[in-house]
Amino acid sequence: MVDETSIFIGASRKPDDSYQRAEELLLRYGNRHGLVTGATGTGKTVSLQILAEGFSNAGVPVFCADIKGDLSGISMMGEAKDFLVKRAEQVKLDPYQFQEFPVIFWDLFGEQGHPIRATISEMGPLLLSRLMNLTEAQEGVMNIAFRIADEEGLLLLDLKDLQALLANMADRADQLSARYGNVTKPSVGAIQRTLLVLESQGAANFFGEPALRIADIMRTTRDGRGAISVLAADKLMMNPRLYATFLLWLMSELFEELPEVGDLDRPKLVFFFDEAHLLFEDAPKVLIDRVEQVVRLIRSKGVGVYFVTQNPLDIPEKVLAQLGNRVQHALRAYTPREQQAVRTAAETFRPNPDFDCATAITQLATGEALVSMLEDKGVPAMVQRTLIRPPSSRLGPITPDERRKIIAESPVAGQYDDAVDRESAFEMLQKKAKEAQDAEAQAQQQNSGGSRWTIPGFDDVLGTGNRRSSNRQTVAEAAIKSVVRSVGSSVGRAIVRGILGSLARGR
Ligand SMILES: Nc1ncnc2c1ncn2[C@@H]1O[C@H](COP(=O)(O)OP(=O)(O)OP(=O)(O)O)[C@@H](O)[C@H]1O
Ligand SMILES: [Mg+2]
Repeated sequence: MVDETSIFIGASRKPDDSYQRAEELLLRYGNRHGLVTGATGTGKTVSLQILAEGFSNAGVPVFCADIKGDLSGISMMGEAKDFLVKRAEQVKLDPYQFQEFPVIFWDLFGEQGHPIRATISEMGPLLLSRLMNLTEAQEGVMNIAFRIADEEGLLLLDLKDLQALLANMADRADQLSARYGNVTKPSVGAIQRTLLVLESQGAANFFGEPALRIADIMRTTRDGRGAISVLAADKLMMNPRLYATFLLWLMSELFEELPEVGDLDRPKLVFFFDEAHLLFEDAPKVLIDRVEQVVRLIRSKGVGVYFVTQNPLDIPEKVLAQLGNRVQHALRAYTPREQQAVRTAAETFRPNPDFDCATAITQLATGEALVSMLEDKGVPAMVQRTLIRPPSSRLGPITPDERRKIIAESPVAGQYDDAVDRESAFEMLQKKAKEAQDAEAQAQQQNSGGSRWTIPGFDDVLGTGNRRSSNRQTVAEAAIKSVVRSVGSSVGRAIVRGILGSLARGR
């Protein structure tokens, strides 16, 4: 592993615009989270790029979303373009070396990277309800669905499993209401319809197996660099709720799966959350509270979370307060709300007597930012007006051919490419329903006198139909009961769900 202790971010400037000093992110505070903000085109993505490069070089794996495709260039060697070389001189980056980084491309739709999947069960009722924008009553039904699945040993892997379970619940709504509280046919029906919408938006690809193994985003190369997982998010952004829910799920998985490690000399993983406002936009308070909790606690698992967004006001105050390392690019200040954002952003910094923070924020050039990193003892440094270093990798997107090559050579090539559809709730419910139906048909045949024949020693088998017909159950009931009998005992009944209601594997 590389024995550097900091990441070079750029050079701060004195009031007369001359070089002041190097600004650096201390790796030992890399898990104290961070924030990159700024208006469109001010340099946020490049700042994210140089931070990701720095973490990777320090042996820290990185996960980030690529909203516009322009971050993909991090996988390619940079080129000595004039403005980059000049920038390198200005920030005294000497030598300015070009480098390509070990990137693993991921894509929820499996088009621009390895497919990334999660099971319904892992996602859990809280995040799913958020994803589907369910009402409180519908969320109640969703919770019951998960409880039934847990209790009756029904594996919920993909959307059709959930559909099958909901259909089954609708069939026995009265019986379920008596046991669990209100399960009405209309509320179940409403959830079923929302599921169809979700499916039509391509979410069916995302739910299922093989599910993402956290270890695969925590890889390092043999020469000690951290892998940079780049999630293609251009198409995903058309469904912002899926985007936000997915990243939340990933964060909660990291939280649930990683052991407590306390403060290390560098993080175990950093996670960049671009377009972070989507996380909090019309999110219910309970979810915001949980996110706040995860962000606060994930630090001791060695994970640093860096939010990237246009406006610091997008982030709830309690979360904002936990983001130690700050890079504030230029903001516009035309409207009252924008002026408010500038003031808020300015107030979060430890002031520098050399300049007025709020004024500076509106005057920063592209690729220039107000920077305040955590210093000794984890105290925020006095804010500095900083020219950000140029990246070592390519600025801008890669070509589809370049992408294909990287995907083909990736360490996870072949592992996630094909979906696996193993037996789960859908198949179980279907099979049991069919068995019940067959038994019923057979019983009917016997009752009508068609069964004078018997096979010696097989009385029991034929008798089953008789017994069932004498004690008639609905098809659904029979199906559920036999499912419980066959697998109910092998699947733990008391399933513990994590902080965001997700279900970590291996528990
Ligand atoms: N540190 C830097 N060094 C050199 N050039 C930079 C730097 N930062 C930004 N630039 C230049 O500014 C352009 C815009 O920066 P960037 O794409 O990072 O903006 P952004 O804030 O991410 O914009 P958007 O909100 O539209 O995504 C870059 O393509 C690059 O040409
Ligand atoms: Mg950008």
